[in-house]
Amino acid sequence: METLQAASHHAPPVRPGQHATSRSTAADSLMVRACRREVVPHTPIWLMRQAGRYMPEYRAIRARQSMLEAISDPAVAAEITLQPVDALGVDAAIIFSDILPPLIGMGLELDFVSGTGPRIANPVRVPHDVDMLGTPPAEQTLRGTLDAIRLVRAALPSSKPLIGFAGAPFTLACYAIEGGGSQRYETAKAFMYAEPAAWSRLMRRLVTVLSDYLLAQARAGADVLQVFDSWAGALGPHDYNRFVRPYNVKLFNSLSGVGVPVINFSTGTGAYIDDVAACGGDVVGIDWRTPLDAVRSRLGATRAIMGNLDPIALLAPWRELKAQVDDVLRRAGSNPGHIFNIGHGILPATSVDNVRRLVEYVHEQTAIASKE
Ligand code: CP3
Repeated sequence: METLQAASHHAPPVRPGQHATSRSTAADSLMVRACRREVVPHTPIWLMRQAGRYMPEYRAIRARQSMLEAISDPAVAAEITLQPVDALGVDAAIIFSDILPPLIGMGLELDFVSGTGPRIANPVRVPHDVDMLGTPPAEQTLRGTLDAIRLVRAALPSSKPLIGFAGAPFTLACYAIEGGGSQRYETAKAFMYAEPAAWSRLMRRLVTVLSDYLLAQARAGADVLQVFDSWAGALGPHDYNRFVRPYNVKLFNSLSGVGVPVINFSTGTGAYIDDVAACGGDVVGIDWRTPLDAVRSRLGATRAIMGNLDPIALLAPWRELKAQVDDVLRRAGSNPGHIFNIGHGILPATSVDNVRRLVEYVHEQTAIASKE
């Protein structure tokens, strides 16, 4: 950790797309160029939740510190962020945090309970609860993560971009109302239907907080931003367009001048991926339920795409994993603008060796393909 801390003292303030210390910047990296749909020497790959319990180095840190302690300590969060970059050879780092901490600053009492996942002690249940939520600036409430971004950016080579992220308003509203994870999001959806005005106020407050947080991450040195709408697929297209889309449009519009590519990721939204994409983002992240060639033909060549290996394929023997990777690459096709990823977060039972082999294989296969 000494090198990280030393680096941070000497690092000049960095602005998005402008890393004053180095000649080549993360803006020239394969990942950022692929986000911009430029032709690149091989397909870049990174994995959602690439820092996590499947890695022994991660488990060693989390044995000593709680999730919230690890997130709010910049040196620890920076160390966890760099672990998979060193161990796996992935083409990008993603800042170690979670999508839920912004809710703490708004006044929700969040904890990560081992075995059960996130819990909120005082969830939003009636319209008045919405009006009690604050919208403080990220520089005040999420300082640990912004400082971790500064440390990581100073420690990473310019070939590796750092991804900053936030949850999307709908996914965070679900957590705020349910008070934790859920199968069907029935409390959140019932609130949405019964209290449309309060729902709108909640979503607007979330947009304010999330937009400010994402912009602050870019100012701190994030080279790419990702918005996770992990639970959007709980809605059908009509409800998505009524209750989610206007707020996502507002969020993505607020990022239009940020100067770094933005990834719009959701799961379970294959049936209305055009509506999802219409909200914004340079890259559309796809889960494994929708084949990439189908997405390409629906979205046209105007967007880069990210995905979409089934995370459970990483639990399969190599011959099956390899066949599934080949299928993803074949369906991604030869148009520029593909970032390889899994279709949702990596599972704790995943073997580190399989992930390493996956990264190598994607690099090799796509390098050969581009020379043909
Ligand atoms: O991708 C990364 O490596 C960056 C870090 C990151 C985490 N969570 C770390 C984490 C990111 C981007 C997330 C996003 C996140 N968190 C989402 C959206 C993406 C998705 O997977 O759907 C959601 C819905 C959450 C909420 C969340 N956080 C849940 C439901 C859980 C418990 C389930 C689980 O896997 O344990 C978490 C905890 C969490 N977030 C862990 C990590 C590494 C595990 C914590 C631990 O026990 O060490």
